[in-house]
Order: sequence, then structure tokens, then C-alpha cells
Amino acid sequence: MTSHAFQRCIHPHCGATVDLSDTSFRCPKCGGLLDVAYDWSRLPVPKSLKDFEAKWTDRTHPLNFSGVWRFRELFPFAPDDRVMTIGEGQTLCQRADPVAEYVGLKPGKLFLQYEGMNPSGSFKDNGMTAAFTHARMVDARRAACASTGNTSASLAIYCAATNLMRAVIFIGSGKISYGKLSQALEHNALTLQIAGDFDDALRRVQEVSRALGIYLVNSVNPFRLEGQKSIMFRVLEALRWEVPDWIVVPGGNLGNVSAFGKAFMELLELGLIPRAPRLAVINAAGANTFYQLYERHGVRWNGGKPDDKKTNAYLKMLDDTGARADTLASAIEINRPVNFPKALRALERCGGCVREVTDQEILDAKAKIGAGGLGCEPASAASVAGLLKLVKEGVVAPDERVVCILTGHVLKDPTATVAYHSSDPKTFEDVLGKRGVRRAAFANRAVQVPNDLDEIVKALELYA
Ligand code: F0G
Repeated sequence: MTSHAFQRCIHPHCGATVDLSDTSFRCPKCGGLLDVAYDWSRLPVPKSLKDFEAKWTDRTHPLNFSGVWRFRELFPFAPDDRVMTIGEGQTLCQRADPVAEYVGLKPGKLFLQYEGMNPSGSFKDNGMTAAFTHARMVDARRAACASTGNTSASLAIYCAATNLMRAVIFIGSGKISYGKLSQALEHNALTLQIAGDFDDALRRVQEVSRALGIYLVNSVNPFRLEGQKSIMFRVLEALRWEVPDWIVVPGGNLGNVSAFGKAFMELLELGLIPRAPRLAVINAAGANTFYQLYERHGVRWNGGKPDDKKTNAYLKMLDDTGARADTLASAIEINRPVNFPKALRALERCGGCVREVTDQEILDAKAKIGAGGLGCEPASAASVAGLLKLVKEGVVAPDERVVCILTGHVLKDPTATVAYHSSDPKTFEDVLGKRGVRRAAFANRAVQVPNDLDEIVKALELYA
């Protein structure tokens, strides 16, 4: 174990520290969330972000090939020979002018960070490689998660590829897309379908992991978030180390926004960036706890003393009324985000805001993103739908530089996509209508043609 890295309670008034090898992922003193913390004064920190470019010429070294580990000096909790990598993080940050036009930004101002290119098809692999590295350091044999699909796909693929641990997956029954469920099954994970939703599954998996000593890989695991910081390092790398004005990210369990905030806080502390971008978190309207608490009830980090009374009253109201998260964007269908306090901290340090978008807005934005050349799942498109709103409100100016994070691949959740583009009203109604989606303004409908050469030629002349 390296002593310059340890775990620390996120609440400054508590500040309890925990050994790096601890796997309870809860503060033993106050029950709060933990950070992975570093004694930077005893570590070799690069003088400039540009120093990382030296790694580009060394792609045969697995740690420099990985889009996560090539930044390992910025999350130095593991010796190189313990790292578990499967080549994650080879992702794109692409300028997207047609989508910029859709949201009302000037050409050259919008970039899409496409995390669908990861081995399991979502951003989760950035964090999973870090969690697996920690699991290897502590000799874990079984790993578990609750999932809306992507964490489980990632866990399953890392277990299958590394043979380090056995995967145990908790999913809410009927709450996972076939694309994602197929990955868990194909990669041989033990899959438990719980009669309930993600929030139920997450509660159970925490209980079970604690009772049986199973290594937990949900984003309450602070090592996961260390890996997810690298998404921001790659954004900066793609922008030639210039800090954008805004990062826009979908919010589910709020691991990403927490990781991004931590990344920027540390880069500032190390003098590697002159300022942080603002962070906009986008909830689905059917799973909008963060939006409600931050924007409607005014809950803030407040220097480490958030108003827990307001938060608890809101969560109790959800329980008392039997409210359940409900959105087509299944990946963010979450009402009890575990990283809520860390997300509040990120917004306080970087500045930013939270918005909610309807399933209609999500699907329209998704079709525009797809027509622009990058395929993403509904949850990911919430970022662009939210940005459209923020530009309309005047919160984001048309000449500000913005990066939206596309968290998962289009093939992960094809049901909503096919229904949106379908010419069959019944398919549309069955999948989308009951969720309040009324129209498909950007649908690209398949053309029905008889099996006849003349008719096919006629159709081509008409449409192409
Ligand atoms: N986008 C996608 C594609 C996701 O899979 C998730 C989370 C999020 C966004 C939300 O990210 O939790 O960092 O705010 N999916 C989890 C899962 C919950 O189980 O796969 P967050």
C-alpha cells in the first residue's frame, strides 16, 4: 500500500481518514461518503498538463495506451504493477456543428465527448478499471453492483476479461434494456433480478455486500470516481488543454458530476489549470430529485454543512407518496442519488446549475445527435436537451465553449430509438406514447417497398 494516498470523509468538519485498503466506503465516524485523497507534496506531479503528451508516443505500454491510466499521476493510488486495464478510454471529443445549431450555439462552440466507444459501450469502464485495480490491491474475489444496466455490463466485462473476480449483479426487474442485460448474461455474471427498481436494488446490494464482504463497484466506491476523473482529462487534452466554459452531463446517481468536480478542484490545487468550467447537471423530469433539491428547495453544499433536514423531508415525501422514478432514459431512472453531497460540493466549487428535461425533449435531442454522426442512448441525450434549455434561458451564451458528455452508446437501448423512427403508430404508442412522448419531429422513417425492381427504383428516385 502507498501511504501518500488514503480515504477521507468528504465532510470537512469530520475529516476522518481511513486506510486505502478499507472497502466499507462509508466514513466510520459520521457515515458520510469518502474521497480518495492524496498527499500531493510527496508525489511527483507533472508541471504542466502538456507533459502528458509524452505518453502518446508509447502506446505499446498498456498503462499509456489506456485513456484512463495515461493520466495516473493525477490519481496515484496504485502501483503500476497492480493496475487492471482492458484498454478503456479510447474515446472521442468531437466538434459538433449541426448539434450546436440545434441548441443555439455558434459553430465551433459545441463538442460531444463520446464515451460510448468504451469496451462495454459506456463511460462506466473509466471507473471500473480503477475499482478493479483497488479490488486487486485488497485481494477481493467477488464484486457486486446494482445497476440500470451500464455498470453491470461494465462489471461483467471486466470480470470476464481479467478473471479477477466473480460478478454479482442486482437489477430491478423490467428496468433494464435488452442491450445491457445481454452483456451481463453474455459475460457470465450472476444476475439477480429484484422485484423493484434501481433504488431498491442499490439499497439491497449495499446490505448484502456489507454482510458478505463482497466488493462493491457502485459509484459510492470512491475509487470508481478516481477513474471517471479521466473523462475530464481527455476533454482538456482534446481541447489542447484549454478549459471549456461549460461541461454538461446527465445526472443519475451523480457519480460523474462528483468526479468531474473533484478533477477540477485538484487541477486547480495543483496549479495545472487557471480556472474550472461550470457544471450543468441534467435530470430526466421523471427522476428529478437533484433538480428539485438544488433548484427548487435551494439545498447547497454550504461549506460541508448541507441542509439535511430539507433533503430528508423531500426523500420522506417520496417514500410516503410511493413516488417512483419514471423515464424512458432508463440509465438515469434514479430518485435517490447516492452521490448527492459530492455533487453539491462539485457545484459549489465549480459553479453551475441543474435542469430537468422531458422524455420528448430527450428523444428529439437524441435524434439530432444521431443525425450529426454520434449514436447515444436516451440518458446521454439529456445533456444536449438540457443545453438547449440553458441557451434558451440565456444561462449559456451562444459563443461559450461547451462540452456535452454522451455517456452511453446508441446500441445499448434500441427500443426507444426504433419506436421514435417507426412509421407504425402502435409501436410508437406502446413504447413512447405512454411516457408522454407525442411526436417524433426528427424521425427518419423506413420506406416500405414491394419486392419489385421497378418499385424499388421508383422509391429511390423519390427519396434519395
Ligand atoms: N448515463 C448513462 C448511460 C448511465 O448508465 C448512467 C448511470 C448515467 C448517465 C448517470 O451517471 O450516476 O454518474 O450520474 N448508470 C448507472 C448504472 C446507474 O447502473 O449503469 P451518474
